[in-house]
Amino acid sequence: MSDDPLSDFKAAQREGWSSFAPIAAFTTPAAAHLVDFAGIASGQVVLDVACGTGVVAVTAARLGARLSGLDLSPALIEEAKNNATLLDADIAFLTGDAEKLPYPDGHFDAVLSQFGHMFAPRPDVVIAEMLRVLKPGGRVAFSTWPPELAIGRIFRLVERYLPIPAGVPSPTAWGETAVIRERLGDRVTELEFKTAEMVVPTLSTRHYLSLMAATAAPIRKVAEQFADRPEQLETFRNEFEAIAATYFNGNQIHQTFQMTRGRKS
Ligand SMILES: C[S@@+](CC[C@H](N)C(=O)[O-])C[C@H]1O[C@@H](n2cnc3c(N)ncnc32)[C@H](O)[C@@H]1O
Repeated sequence: MSDDPLSDFKAAQREGWSSFAPIAAFTTPAAAHLVDFAGIASGQVVLDVACGTGVVAVTAARLGARLSGLDLSPALIEEAKNNATLLDADIAFLTGDAEKLPYPDGHFDAVLSQFGHMFAPRPDVVIAEMLRVLKPGGRVAFSTWPPELAIGRIFRLVERYLPIPAGVPSPTAWGETAVIRERLGDRVTELEFKTAEMVVPTLSTRHYLSLMAATAAPIRKVAEQFADRPEQLETFRNEFEAIAATYFNGNQIHQTFQMTRGRKS
């Protein structure tokens, strides 16, 4: 038996994100924004936390940084390894938990996470781990979804249908600057924020819903758990599409995200 009280929650996350790979086409441009915002340079030793298919890690490795990447999902780690192999990039990808990083203290020059560490259930534990493995003066940088914008609104809708376990805060709290400041406290200096846009090409809000229900863990879960309650599922779909319609323009869903960077004190 696991000694992690949240092992069932994490097992559900591991399974929920296992079909995420098609969405990596859209997180790929966002990865270039984060790597740039973090100021990654050749020779730096860098970690990509909750790396998925490795879009941030591979982008940083292309600049000459020395990369490690970790994710809960073995299926996505396989994809990440394939992505590195295509470039002959030597990236140490591992299956593992962001709340228990298998690296020594002060090992990395930079620790990054794109739409990743926000899904760890204990914000205090995951950020303590990310800062533990970072050198003093090293860079921490991550991208998250603000609760009041596109994906944040969709996650909050999902939480009305499938409440998250008691004691686990919404992942969207990592998109609020006040919360970030509080969670990082005086462990990080030079805190800065910047927004950028991720676009998802799609023929309609219905197509977008179909993509998200097949690939993104929270929406997948609603689609699966309400499969035998068609009326509620239809209501969810309508609410989802009403939100998506606000961001649908030019055959694209425009999703604004927030980047945060700081230095370990
Ligand atoms: C939205 S995806 C982002 C993936 C990738 N960073 C990207 O930008 O394409 C969220 C990722 O977080 C991972 N994840 C969720 N909880 C995690 C945890 N506790 N430890 C490590 N990875 C986790 C999922 O497996 C998934 O790959």
